[in-house]
Amino acid sequence: MTKRTLSFFILHSSFFILLAQTISITTDHTQLVLQVNSQKRLCQTYLGERLSEQTDLKQLSMPQAGLSSSCIRGLEAYPVMGTEDYYEPTFEIRHADGNPTSVLKYQQHTQQGDLTSISLRDEVYPIEVTLYYKTFPQEDVIQQWAEIKHEEKGKVFLGRYASSMLYFEAPSYYLTEFASDWAKEMQMLSQELQFGKKVVDSRLGTRANLMAQPFFEVGIGSPISENEGTVLMGTLGWTGNFRFTFEVDNQHVLRVVSGINHDASSYLLPKGETFRTADFFFTLAKGTGEGSRRFQRWMMNHQLHKAKDDRMTLLNNWENTYFDFNEEKLVALFGEAKDLGVDLFLLDDGWFGNKYPRKDDHAGLGDWQVTKDKLPQGIPYLVRKAKENGVAFGIWIEPEMVNPKSELAEKHPDWLIQLPSRETYYFRNQMVLDLCNPKVQDFVFGIVDGLMQENPEIRFMKWDCNSPITNIYSPYLKENQGNIYVDYVRGLYKVLDRVQAKYPDLYMMMCSGGGGRSDVTGLRYFTEFWCSDNTDPIERLFIQWGYSQFMPAKAMCAHVTEWNRRASIKFRVDVAFQGKLGFDIGLKGLSDDDRQYCREAIKEYKRLKDIVWSPNLYRLVSPYEGQHCVVQRVDDAKSKSVVFAYDIHPRYGERLLNTRLQGLDAAANYRVKEICLMPGKQSWLPCNDKVYTGDYLMKVGIKVTSTNDLVSHIIEVTKE
Ligand code: GLA
Repeated sequence: MTKRTLSFFILHSSFFILLAQTISITTDHTQLVLQVNSQKRLCQTYLGERLSEQTDLKQLSMPQAGLSSSCIRGLEAYPVMGTEDYYEPTFEIRHADGNPTSVLKYQQHTQQGDLTSISLRDEVYPIEVTLYYKTFPQEDVIQQWAEIKHEEKGKVFLGRYASSMLYFEAPSYYLTEFASDWAKEMQMLSQELQFGKKVVDSRLGTRANLMAQPFFEVGIGSPISENEGTVLMGTLGWTGNFRFTFEVDNQHVLRVVSGINHDASSYLLPKGETFRTADFFFTLAKGTGEGSRRFQRWMMNHQLHKAKDDRMTLLNNWENTYFDFNEEKLVALFGEAKDLGVDLFLLDDGWFGNKYPRKDDHAGLGDWQVTKDKLPQGIPYLVRKAKENGVAFGIWIEPEMVNPKSELAEKHPDWLIQLPSRETYYFRNQMVLDLCNPKVQDFVFGIVDGLMQENPEIRFMKWDCNSPITNIYSPYLKENQGNIYVDYVRGLYKVLDRVQAKYPDLYMMMCSGGGGRSDVTGLRYFTEFWCSDNTDPIERLFIQWGYSQFMPAKAMCAHVTEWNRRASIKFRVDVAFQGKLGFDIGLKGLSDDDRQYCREAIKEYKRLKDIVWSPNLYRLVSPYEGQHCVVQRVDDAKSKSVVFAYDIHPRYGERLLNTRLQGLDAAANYRVKEICLMPGKQSWLPCNDKVYTGDYLMKVGIKVTSTNDLVSHIIEVTKE
């Protein structure tokens, strides 16, 4: 069947089954072609820029898998463990009789709108694997997942269950990964991929992204750059263990396998039950700039919870008070929040526990009753007082966790993930609740529900998760321990589904000791996430640069704090201005001018937030390359743009270059104006208050950097 007839069918038929040998999956600019070979094996024959309608897809050759020329497969779309291919497989199964292999053969496929499903079957064992490809044509993003099912009697274990396998043939491959640690999230590290495997993965369970973030970029044929060259950008939507394997085989074919990490997770799949893998999302873009704009737009259009709704600026008390607060202090802070002009006050950790009050992080976690002698009038009083001060109220919870020193741990030891007959290892003095257990799911849901029932006016929750899963053993799963990492995440999603269904207006921050949880499926439930506990503005420039590769600004919580007092309050605010702005700072310690600056900046932020949150991001000067950082946002109409320019630590005698803007209308005139100036200060930028054509701004550029240490500028560019 030619592509023309194929796409005719796709466009003009609502639903039917195609028994064709060529399956074409397209977005506006990308095409993936799969073909069935004479052995009924499904193979990838093309992945790249969208082909013209005239291209005869049958001419695509079927490259052979690397092992030997007698191999009858091709680059198989979902290769299995144990048969012909000795490279990293996507799928592994142990049948009830102990046989560890399967051969998956094409059965049929359907294409309905943007969804393609292809079913594969083993002809010897009753197992079925269905591969799904969902396209987001305008955003040029493709989503992949698989569903696995069997009808065998006896115990069947899935050893591997990846979401996706993609193949590339190019002279060279360059990987950028996003290494992390506490306060060091999203460190972009690049390397050329040579023969063999490179694995980026997590086995931490809950605080899954503490050390590795679930994103990657691969330069196909050339090193990764912002605006040039083909780059594959991918991410796994799974709030748990993930694994990306990049393998260059003996024929220099790159294989990219993405999915849930199968380590320590041999999954017992009952007969008739469907195992759905995690979702893998990718785009194939010209440079990471284009890829990021696509991912951000896709997040805003299809993925992020309440993406079209507003977000609230806030004042958080964590770094101001830590655990040391009472009603009087909090009510005074509500006043400060109002004075500052933010929308919401967020009460952090330390408000709960009676038998074991939460005075520090050693006790109380799990006992979600307000500490009576600390807050005698309870949460309702605080919500009311906040309202009287003209700010909404939000509250911190860490519902999946428990301190051994808590009434909960005493009452329900069987609810805790812990190894029987071994010494327990505590991470931040706490343990993880067993969300595989439906009773625990009810309890966790009940924490949110209880707070909301009592205080329907709570607008926001910060849902924290400070510990990885330690002492891995679920008392609920008993002998099926291989299911724990997967079932935990499913249990979490069940709870979050209930929260979302019952409280659709609740805004929630996904937090995990900083950015330990940061995946795109988590953000189907959360309206935003905490990028890092590190709010040093210099570090944040790097962290935000990293997350902006995939995440929209609206979802990236950025707070002004006391970290790095060497940086002025203006510099700190100007960095946080790029994300979802908040404050976590004692305002009394600020000078009048600094406080005034914050108030004015919040007003400007509220005026410009739709542009700040626009997916049209242009990263112009990288902090990784030198001593400056410049980024730009443009609205869809190209009528307004905001430029953020930061001098970090310029070198002596450094020659300053113009910064060329991007994404503007070349033929239009734009006025350039520096905003957010300290009280009484004038802009000294030579471009300030001048009018330029878009052409000039994009080809000649303007000077927005300087040779000063820690200086920042926010510049508004408006079409005249
Ligand atoms: C984590 C969060 C912080 C704060 C503390 C409270 O570390 O990242 O922002 O909420 O927990 O214990």
